[in-house]
Amino acid sequence: MTTDLDVVVCEVGLRDGLQMLDTFFPTAEKIAWIEAERAAGVPEIEVTSFVPPKLVPQFVDAQEVVEAALALPDLTVVALMPNLKGAERGVALGVHKLNYVLSVSRTHNLKNVRREREESIADFHRIVAMVKSQPEGRRPVLIGGLSSALGCSYEGAIATDEVVRCAVALAEAGADELMIADTVGYADPALVRKTFKAVQAAVGPLPVNAHFHDTRGLGLANVAAALDCGVRRFEASLAGLGGCQFAPGATGNIVMDDLCFMLDAMGLRTGVDLEKLVAVREIIARNLPGTALYGGLARSGLPRHYVTAVQRGA
Ligand code: COA
Ligand code: ZN
Repeated sequence: MTTDLDVVVCEVGLRDGLQMLDTFFPTAEKIAWIEAERAAGVPEIEVTSFVPPKLVPQFVDAQEVVEAALALPDLTVVALMPNLKGAERGVALGVHKLNYVLSVSRTHNLKNVRREREESIADFHRIVAMVKSQPEGRRPVLIGGLSSALGCSYEGAIATDEVVRCAVALAEAGADELMIADTVGYADPALVRKTFKAVQAAVGPLPVNAHFHDTRGLGLANVAAALDCGVRRFEASLAGLGGCQFAPGATGNIVMDDLCFMLDAMGLRTGVDLEKLVAVREIIARNLPGTALYGGLARSGLPRHYVTAVQRGA
């Protein structure tokens, strides 16, 4: 379903954007957001997180949201899972892709998932075994996510060797894809190049995806650097919602609308209709009054005489 695209964008606002909010985003409105963003052409959406509802009440409606998302044609339904139990919930519902979280920062891993990194890696082995034991057609794609890989608000700089070590551990365990995340927005384009190249060299042909936060305004510059390294899947959130309750100081993800505009302007096909995408922000605005919404495209509109990929018939 995404083979005719040059770059795959994945919306993570429903997970990364909502996980730290005290306000419950109504289930019907989450579903409206997913439907509208799919209708705007976004091919992948991380729709929820399989964490204990007691810990993150925002995702108490995970099942309902996933079922509604799975009913949409041509949408790759992604969800986050921190452990085997989360993976089992995802597999039972038939989610297409599961995003695992291992923090390269030991301190962040302990705060976020309450265990040592080695225990997280061991759990990932159990997840792979569980997924492999499923009948064909019920096996989600497993993304091995490396959080706090480009800096950590507890530990500061993260050694590239440690990122490579964790990446190799998840790759050897059986990840189908890897994802390098700048959870708190410490990265710069030079660090992105260095880290992605080192990981790619160590894991061979495995796709390495990127997840950036725009905390210090370098988000899209980091995307450009990752594109140069051959990265072709990016996570972002509409209007730049986002953050992690266990990683102080992080602000929102890179802005999905601006990311799609940049890729479109560079001649890379994303499948996204920019004007329709910007209109979806209204769903967030009406449900989160008072929450800052970011984005240059929404503020300033398309450049005069701009010909979008959709208009070009790309
Ligand atoms: N889904 C639903 N329930 C779960 C669960 C999951 N994925 N994982 C554990 N539980 C339940 C257990 O069954 C247990 O329930 P009980 O108290 O009724 O017996 C309870 O939660 C505690 O389980 P335990 O395995 O001891 O977990 P923990 O307290 O050590 O917490 C995590 C570990 C990973 C579940 C938790 O730290 C977590 O969800 N972290 C993710 C945080 C997050 O969302 N970060 C942002 C995204 S990167
Ligand atoms: Zn994030």
